[in-house]
Amino acid sequence: MTEIKGKTAVVTGGGSGIGMGLARELARQGAAVAVADINADNAEKIAASIRAAGGHAIAVTCDVCERDAIKAMKQQVNAELGPVQLLFANAGATSFTTLADMSDDDVDWIIQVNLMGVMNSTRAFLPDMIAAGGGHICATASMAGLLPGWIPAHVPYSAAKAGIIGMMMNLQLELREHHVFTTSYCPGAVATGMKNNNGSYRPARFGGPEQVVEVQFSTSDTTHSDLRFYRPADIAPMVLNAVSNNRPFVFDHADQRRFFRETYASIVEACYDDIDAWEAEHGLPEANPTGAALITQD
Ligand SMILES: NC(=O)c1ccc[n+]([C@@H]2O[C@H](COP(=O)([O-])OP(=O)(O)OC[C@H]3O[C@@H](n4cnc5c(N)ncnc54)[C@H](O)[C@@H]3O)[C@@H](O)[C@H]2O)c1
Repeated sequence: MTEIKGKTAVVTGGGSGIGMGLARELARQGAAVAVADINADNAEKIAASIRAAGGHAIAVTCDVCERDAIKAMKQQVNAELGPVQLLFANAGATSFTTLADMSDDDVDWIIQVNLMGVMNSTRAFLPDMIAAGGGHICATASMAGLLPGWIPAHVPYSAAKAGIIGMMMNLQLELREHHVFTTSYCPGAVATGMKNNNGSYRPARFGGPEQVVEVQFSTSDTTHSDLRFYRPADIAPMVLNAVSNNRPFVFDHADQRRFFRETYASIVEACYDDIDAWEAEHGLPEANPTGAALITQD
């Protein structure tokens, strides 16, 4: 079990949407919360609303793309709230533009904020968790990472979100003996301001705030036109329940089970069709008798 009550938590992207829901629910369950966001006003608004409700929260301004900004954020949190046991690496942004139409800046930004933001935040807080012998990192990935055929016009986004899942799963191999756990949260559809506000999050080094031009795609291109959107306040207890139980994944759309099965079954079948056909024609590849690495090919 990972206890929430009495712990110190950081929520990146805590100034709105899913992060806001997580920050409020963490405080409601008795954690002290640092609401970290690139938008200082929103971070302060959410922290103030938590304090007004009787919780313990501070606001910290931080761009998760910048390692130095994360280090400064960590210093501030440690000074004001003490060591951090719970990290919710949640800040993210989307694109809604086809890959051919994306600028280099946008590709870099989407990868930096979604993938490197989680990497940077994790690397900043992990050593203290290991030293203390406990902690939990919950990274907000996406259904678009778990099911990369789910939504069009999200190529760097899907890559980054799939990368988060790989990061969390592989990291877990290093952490068992330290009692530090990871959870990949894969939202499907949560009603937030992401679509409308997205361009306003683009940091100066990637060109600064921009107007989002959303690509139009027909509903026949999408597999999720029937998705219900949930509220952050209703999703947050589900995510914290998974964290409390040290679950490696939390997925908020059970109704996507069929698509999930089809996606992974098709990957398995595609791999096996290919290798079965190859082996039928060529036989098994020859085993390397020594197991040694072959540097040159004879
Ligand atoms: N809403 C959904 O349906 C959905 C689906 C799948 C995944 N997600 C993921 O959930 C997470 C939260 O998104 P949301 O839907 O709540 O959107 P949101 O736009 O409401 O919240 C995103 C927050 O991240 C902050 N942020 C953006 N760039 C930042 C940066 N460089 N540094 C620090 N903070 C930054 C924004 O200021 C904002 O407060 C994202 O990682 C997103 O990819 C959301």
